[in-house]
Amino acid sequence: MAAAKRTPLISGNWKMNLNHFEAIQTVQKLHYLLPKDVYETVDVSVHPPFTDIRSVQTVIEGDGLDLILGAQHCHFQDTGAFTGEISPAFLAKLDVKLIVCGHSERREIFGETDDMVNAKVKAILKHGMTPIMCCGESLAEREAGETEAKVLGQVQAGLAGLSADQVGSLVIAYEPIWAIGTGKTATSADAQTVCRAIRTAVAAQFGAEAATAVRIQYGGSVKAGTTEELMSQPDVDGALVGGASLDPEEFARIVQFAAG
Ligand code: 13P
Repeated sequence: MAAAKRTPLISGNWKMNLNHFEAIQTVQKLHYLLPKDVYETVDVSVHPPFTDIRSVQTVIEGDGLDLILGAQHCHFQDTGAFTGEISPAFLAKLDVKLIVCGHSERREIFGETDDMVNAKVKAILKHGMTPIMCCGESLAEREAGETEAKVLGQVQAGLAGLSADQVGSLVIAYEPIWAIGTGKTATSADAQTVCRAIRTAVAAQFGAEAATAVRIQYGGSVKAGTTEELMSQPDVDGALVGGASLDPEEFARIVQFAAG
């Protein structure tokens, strides 16, 4: 498990921000700010709102950008009577490659359960895309000393029924809820401790190969100033960035710190 680090993945989760005009500008500016060789050492994804995805896809494909197109959420069924929901099959048709699932905002505000997250992980994989499966503890859980129990419980439930190969191909994002949008970040040592615990749990359940391959991101008030130290941790393979990803200059700095 101490093998060479995996290719880092820096993901910009825009949440419900930026309309499709703003999305096009943001992606073009980000591309302009990032040196071409940065993509040799880091993967970079953007996760716009659904209404922007077709526009962003057109820019990425039309201009041949190296950015990876992502989404923030999907349903676990392909089609059906699910008013307002988004099929993973439709996202695959738009060349979406990465889909965030089980974000704490979806769990808390929209009642997503571990079982739903597990169904989404399977649906995303079925359509040839990669899940970024989120986990994380609340402040109360942290203060009660329940961080690992909560996080590892979510990971175990979210990965239930997957093969070792599937687990090795996916991305897990550790996002302590108390650090999201609050300006408070876990220390890099704390992030490392939890990311290591996740990797150890993956190894126990799915074997060393899957544990070595799975990429584990940290998320929660990541800024350019905190990226370098975070990325120097052996089990942190990238960042899931919210607020700071809305500013192409700040996000480009984060990517460059991750590229080393
Ligand atoms: P912030 O970077 O705004 O804290 O958001 C983190 C997050 O939730 C990314 O998914």
